[in-house]
Formats: sequence, C-alpha cells, structure tokens
Amino acid sequence: MKHTKIKDLLAATQPMKDINAKGWVRTFRNSQFIALNDGSTIHNIQCVVDFENTPETELKRITTGAAVSIIGDLVESQGAGQKFEIQARSFEILGDSDAEKFPMQPKKHSLEFLRENAHLRVRTNAFGAIMRVRSVLSYAVHKYFQDKGFVYVNTPIITGADAEGAGEMFQVTSLPLDNLPKNEEGNINYKEDFFGKHTNLTVSGQLEGETFAMALGQIYTFGPTFRAENSNTSRHLAEFWMIEPEVAFNDLNDNMDLAEDFIQYVVKYAVDHCKDDLKFLEGRLLEEEKSKPQAERSEMALLEKLDFVLSHSFKRVSYTEAIDILKDSTPNKKKKFQYLITEWGADLQSEHERFLVEKHFKCPVILYDYPANIKAFYMRLNEDGKTVRAMDILFPGIGEIVGGSQREERYDVLVEKMRKLGIDEEELWWYLDTRRFGSAVHSGFGLGFERLVLFVTGMTNIRDVIPFPRTPQNAEF
Ligand code: 4AD
Ligand code: MG
Repeated sequence: MKHTKIKDLLAATQPMKDINAKGWVRTFRNSQFIALNDGSTIHNIQCVVDFENTPETELKRITTGAAVSIIGDLVESQGAGQKFEIQARSFEILGDSDAEKFPMQPKKHSLEFLRENAHLRVRTNAFGAIMRVRSVLSYAVHKYFQDKGFVYVNTPIITGADAEGAGEMFQVTSLPLDNLPKNEEGNINYKEDFFGKHTNLTVSGQLEGETFAMALGQIYTFGPTFRAENSNTSRHLAEFWMIEPEVAFNDLNDNMDLAEDFIQYVVKYAVDHCKDDLKFLEGRLLEEEKSKPQAERSEMALLEKLDFVLSHSFKRVSYTEAIDILKDSTPNKKKKFQYLITEWGADLQSEHERFLVEKHFKCPVILYDYPANIKAFYMRLNEDGKTVRAMDILFPGIGEIVGGSQREERYDVLVEKMRKLGIDEEELWWYLDTRRFGSAVHSGFGLGFERLVLFVTGMTNIRDVIPFPRTPQNAEF
C-alpha cells in the first residue's frame, strides 16, 4: 500500500477509505490521540487509535519521536481546528524512540539547546517551517533568474583568488597535516600547499562570474561561500550561501533595479507559497514578543512586514547624503543610536545602518557611491575620483542584505588600483583579461541567502536559518 503525504490528506475534499500515513509522533494523548507529522506541512494529523483493542505493550511504544505507519480511514474530525483525522485500524512502529532519551520533547526548548542538536531540531514545528521556507526561497531564486534567461554558473569552491581582498579566507591544503612545508622559523608555508599552489575556500564567486558575464551576458551563481572572520554575531556565519548575479552592459542604476525587483520577487514567492509556515512563524514571533517590554516590541507582525517590503520601493540614498543625515541626528546618549558619524570617509557601523533603516527612512534603503577606500578594488571609480559605484542594500532588523557594484571596466584604472592596494596582477591575470579583451560596463551584486531567510522567517539569529551552522563555536555534524 502506498502511503499518502499528510499535507495531501489534510487538503482532501472528502473522507477517504483505506489510507496509509507514515510519519513521526509529535505527541500521544489519552492513550488514544496521536499527533503525527511527516514534514510535508506544519500541521499534524490527528490519528485516533483503537486503544481498547490494542495491547498495552504496543501502546507504550507510541512515544514522541517514534516513526509509525498507520492504516485506517480519513474521516471528518469532531475536534476543533481540524477538518479530517485518521481513524486508525492498525499501526506499526517503524522505529522506536526512547521517551527518556529523545531530546526533542514536546515542550519549549531554548534556541541554544536546539542549535546543539541541529540534526534533531528540524523535527520541531519551527525548524520544519524554517527549512521548508528556505527551500522554497531557493527555488524562487532559480526561477527568477531562469525565467529572465540568466545562465546559472558554478564557480570554484577551491580558488587561488581572494575576491574581496579582505584576507578572510580558509586555507586549503592537499598535503598531510604533519607534512606541510615549513619555512626556516618552522611556520607552515601555505604558499605551497595545494599541489604546489596556494589556495583557499572561496569568499565569493564574483570574479569568475564576471568572466562568464562577459560572454553569456547575464549570469548568476548560487553556492556556498566561506569567511574566516571570527565575528561571533547573529548575522555572520563562517559558511553561508550567496547568490551573485552579474550582468554585462548594466550600470549601477540597472543593478539597483535588478536587486530590488529580485528581492521583491522572492519574498512575494515565499508569501504566496509558504502561507501556513509563515503564519506559524508569525504566531511564534508574536508569542516571543509578548515577553519583551512594550518599547522593544516590533511594530509589525511578520506578514505585515513582508507586505510592507513588497508594497514600498527601496529608498536610494548616496553615502554622502547618509552621512549628512547621521550628522544631523541628535545623538541620544541613553539610547542605542549614539555612535553617529561625524567624518565623511568612515565605514558605517551596524548602529548607523539600523538608524537609517529603522528610525529615519523606516523602509529598505539602498546606499550607493561609497568612498573608494572602504570598498573592494574592483568597483568603478566615479568621476569625482574619490567615490565608487558601490551599493549596499540595508533591511530592517537585518542590516546589510546585499553588497554590489558597477565594476571597473577600464584596464588601466583597475591595474593602478590593484598596484596601490598591493594586489598581485600576476595572480589575477585571467581576471584582467576580461578588461584586455572586449571590456564593457557591467555590474552585479551578492545577496547573503541566510540573511534573506532571516528576514522572511522573522528569526533573529542566522544560526537558526541554515541546516548546520558553521560558526567559530560550531563545526560538528
Ligand atoms: O558584501 P559582500 O562581502 O560582497 C561580496 O562578496 C561581493 N563579491 C558580492 C558581489 O558583488 N558579487 O557579501 C555579500 C553579501 C552581504 O551583503 C551579506 O548579505 C552576505 O553576503 N554576507 C554574509 N552572510 C552571512 N555571513 C557572513 N559572514 C557574510 N558575509 C557577507
Ligand atoms: Mg558588504
């Protein structure tokens, strides 16, 4: 007998005879009612067991976490909140779950505890919902670009290039650990480690992506990226997924249009296709908000917040204008936003970004034309000679969600910049070829996928929106 997904059973239009459901027990009440979940939906289906005709020893095996197969009829439910339930004729325990030992008991667990059990936390309602939303968002990313004719490119994970020039790379070695080449002081010489070549895990697929955009026109990457930054924050991971479109002949304005359209599309896709999961996550969030003081509670419920982003265009503000706004804002010593900027040229701290997005504009903001010396080497220098055509998209509650730019297409200007920053031209000879042969204006950006998932699910810690978070503290599993 083929089993039917619980999602399909719950969506039935009429009762059904002889169905089989398989899943994991969430709870078992009154020796009679099983709440069964199979991951296809946030909702459990209630299964009513004929407990009078079932041996006690079998009933005892129906415990939270056990895998069971149930055969019976789908009947209209007498209970509130559910249209159908399963009147079980028989059940089989596929896999026992020791009630004393199973960590995911039906009670509220701290997110901290759940992170330590990332392999089991997905069996909770919240993490099931988050991971389904994440999957739908991935699909929406591909759908958006594929429908527009972008070519999906897989850029290397092991690479010799530091795309961001920020020195935050994990080194990769092909040599046995006790046989690494050492210099005279006895320190490991990473220059010779990957089949005689120095390599690391990619921080971004952008540079390779650019070479493909200069042939295929519009491309995107969607893959894992790695940063060895030791920042222990709720917004940073050592391993995260990035989406990087790159488009030939697009200038910075086209780049902003693309980013805004793309983000609104994927958010809308999730709103339309994850209704039940988002409703559940919204409820969870409201519950959490209740424990906060009134002043710290979010003004909008989750779905309202997503709707807001869909119905408002992102505010476009130059870095210079943003600095003026920050300078004009009266510092409030008692409140959070007290570190306001006084100097043009400084990088924005997250406090500044939050002030602009959450207090000043109260909507997503695209900041552009940053000072050249706080941005990466590949960005297009403006005619003023001191700013570059960079753009960061800032989101409420998240901060930076996108970083991108129009790229420096002029060979001489790019080489001069690289020399100034001490970036090896020989190592990036292939990148410079794009400027040597048929160079053209082009632009792109990178969206941190987990930051998008954070925004859409309303979660507050990035470790809770990726299946197995890799942070300085956590690299098990
Ligand atoms: O701003 P970033 O460093 O830009 C780049 O890597 C460019 N090469 C992108 C491009 O133009 N093609 O990173 C892009 C985005 C950030 O805006 C942020 O959303 C995310 O990637 N990000 C991280 N997400 C999680 N953990 C980290 N450690 C992240 N670092 C960046
Ligand atoms: Mg950035």
